[in-house]
Amino acid sequence: MNDEINAAADESSEKGGRFRVFVRDSRDGDVPAMLAIYLHHIRRGVDPDLDPREFEAPDAEDLKRRRKNMQKRKMPHIVAEENGVVLGYAYAVPFRKRPAYRYAIKHSIYVHNGHLQRGIGRMLMGALIDACAAAGFRQMIGYVDAANRASLVLHERFGFVQVGYLPAIGYKFNHWTDTVLLQRSLGPGGTEPPHL
Ligand SMILES: CC(C)(COP(=O)(O)OP(=O)(O)OC[C@H]1O[C@@H](n2cnc3c(N)ncnc32)[C@H](O)[C@@H]1OP(=O)(O)O)[C@@H](O)C(=O)NCCC(=O)NCCS
Repeated sequence: MNDEINAAADESSEKGGRFRVFVRDSRDGDVPAMLAIYLHHIRRGVDPDLDPREFEAPDAEDLKRRRKNMQKRKMPHIVAEENGVVLGYAYAVPFRKRPAYRYAIKHSIYVHNGHLQRGIGRMLMGALIDACAAAGFRQMIGYVDAANRASLVLHERFGFVQVGYLPAIGYKFNHWTDTVLLQRSLGPGGTEPPHL
């Protein structure tokens, strides 16, 4: 990915337009900010896979290792930055490890709690989709907690469709939770064989 892409439409919403959000590949130095963003949301229970009470926070070194691993495998890992501050991040990981699934990825996206509903999620999602398509992936999969309205709306805006619904699949905060399975094709999707 270019170092800087997708200058934000958000600029006009800031008085005087002094700030400018842009998306770029993540770096090691972004990890502490990414971790802080993640921990805030995870404690509220947005991740369909995790019960926050059972959750052991990853440390920065662990995240750096994972980031490097994914970058080696050409999996996009990006941040949104404004005025030197990381306001959100998004990344892709393999959908499954088996080689048959090598053109499918699943993704995650997190925006800083103090900067929600400014269009940053849209910027990150657009950039992530473009980067995944450019890297040759053909399908993108999202697992979203059914109560996570913001994430469902964001995915819908980018053409994800519901391909599955897993009722009462999780248990957290003393109740059963449902997970929505979302999918979007990239580039020619399944209409052509892969080039790679
Ligand atoms: C989901 C998330 C990434 C959205 O990021 P964001 O920067 O606030 O979203 P945006 O401002 O770009 O808005 C994207 C769309 O979602 C809508 N939206 C955002 N928050 C919403 C909310 N709480 N309720 C309903 N719609 C919402 C916006 O109106 C916008 O729709 P539009 O294109 O029709 O205008 C953000 O809420 C977040 O980080 N949540 C916690 C982590 C998380 O749940 N990640 C996803 C895990 S699957």
